[in-house]
Amino acid sequence: MRFITAGESHGPALTAIVEGVPAGVSVSERHINADLRRRQMGYGRGARQCIESDEVSITSGVRFGVTLGSPVTLVVRNRDAQNWADRMAPFGKPPASLKRETRPRPGHADLVGVLKVGGEDCRDVIERASARSTAALVAAAGIAREFLAAVGVNVFSYVTSIGSVSLDEDEPLLSAPDYKPLDIEVSDLRCPSLETTEAMKARIDEARAAGESLGGAFRVVATGLLPGLGGYATPSDRLSARIGGALFGIPSVKGVEFGLGFAAAGLPGSQVHDAITLERGRGFGRATNRAGGLEGGMTTGLPLVVTCAVKPIPTLMSPLDTIDLDTLESVEASCERSDVCAVPSAAVVAEAQMAFCLAEAYLSKFGRDDMASIRGAIAAYRRRLGTMSK
Ligand SMILES: Cc1cc2nc3c(=O)[nH]c(=O)nc-3n(C[C@H](O)[C@H](O)[C@H](O)COP(=O)(O)O)c2cc1C
Repeated sequence: MRFITAGESHGPALTAIVEGVPAGVSVSERHINADLRRRQMGYGRGARQCIESDEVSITSGVRFGVTLGSPVTLVVRNRDAQNWADRMAPFGKPPASLKRETRPRPGHADLVGVLKVGGEDCRDVIERASARSTAALVAAAGIAREFLAAVGVNVFSYVTSIGSVSLDEDEPLLSAPDYKPLDIEVSDLRCPSLETTEAMKARIDEARAAGESLGGAFRVVATGLLPGLGGYATPSDRLSARIGGALFGIPSVKGVEFGLGFAAAGLPGSQVHDAITLERGRGFGRATNRAGGLEGGMTTGLPLVVTCAVKPIPTLMSPLDTIDLDTLESVEASCERSDVCAVPSAAVVAEAQMAFCLAEAYLSKFGRDDMASIRGAIAAYRRRLGTMSK
């Protein structure tokens, strides 16, 4: 299952095409819109979210709520486009009032993007480098998520830190799979502790007042997985490589840890690896889940637990110095309307990326044509696993 997205931040719409979708997957616009809303929410987001109220339209590949096996096209309109119609017109001349963006923001794609593609207006880069494109990604992943739900897999995420304020968890890798997605969504910051949420919100208020921005960390978890998804034979088979690459594809993600992650480097082997157990009737299991659900590039069947670090938002209301591309003089970087913190939204985008990787892993193991055949292949695999642990 693959997808491509297109669309500028202030263009008329964002579009995604998902191909390789099996026939027979039930799809609900309501579910996709709920994910789009979750991506938009979060304390610390900017005024753009008051303008947009993302909703998906599906224009191909689905009939009477069920996929046909043909490419699925999803469209999310940009309401703000009406305020940018003259500045983003596909044809004609730029309006006389157009102000070029010549003060690149440190930490964003503005300067390096213009150096790469040429041109005199950072706007040409900003429009696509903006994380607005992640709305299309989240919509597209709605198809992957519906497929995963049909095979018993759930993907969710939660925020573990904002700036220096962290969620206190006794055993993060054990507690993570037990969090209830519903409880997480009750928090303005998608954090399972309401007390920590309040401390995080206070930190965001401080940052906003100081013209600052914040990053943080989140965890993304998948439950209900079968063992043996992914592969060990080549680097690209390894699910760790695919998921790692996909999560690093999210703007502002600067670190990805599987299970214990970097902490494993400082511990002896006996405190890192997960002892193998056998429960009669239930099959092979593990005493712990320090690997975070991946071993040898494949799922172990335990919850997949991945933690990501997110850098602070580059647009600062008290801007850093930059060089004006016209005058080549030192000036303050531009500071257009912006989020102060977008960690909760980045976590929803990470769910989307992980959902695609997992859906593709299921399809490559169990077939691609239709849900009935895939269900049959999964049942046969479960029987084989049962025989091996008898
Ligand atoms: C959901 C989300 C929303 C974001 N909102 C903004 C924003 O409003 N302003 C901004 O300057 N950066 C924002 N960012 C961060 C930039 O997209 C990111 O820092 C930039 O693309 C460069 O990141 P990179 O160095 O990881 O490529 C957002 C990121 C995400 C994931």
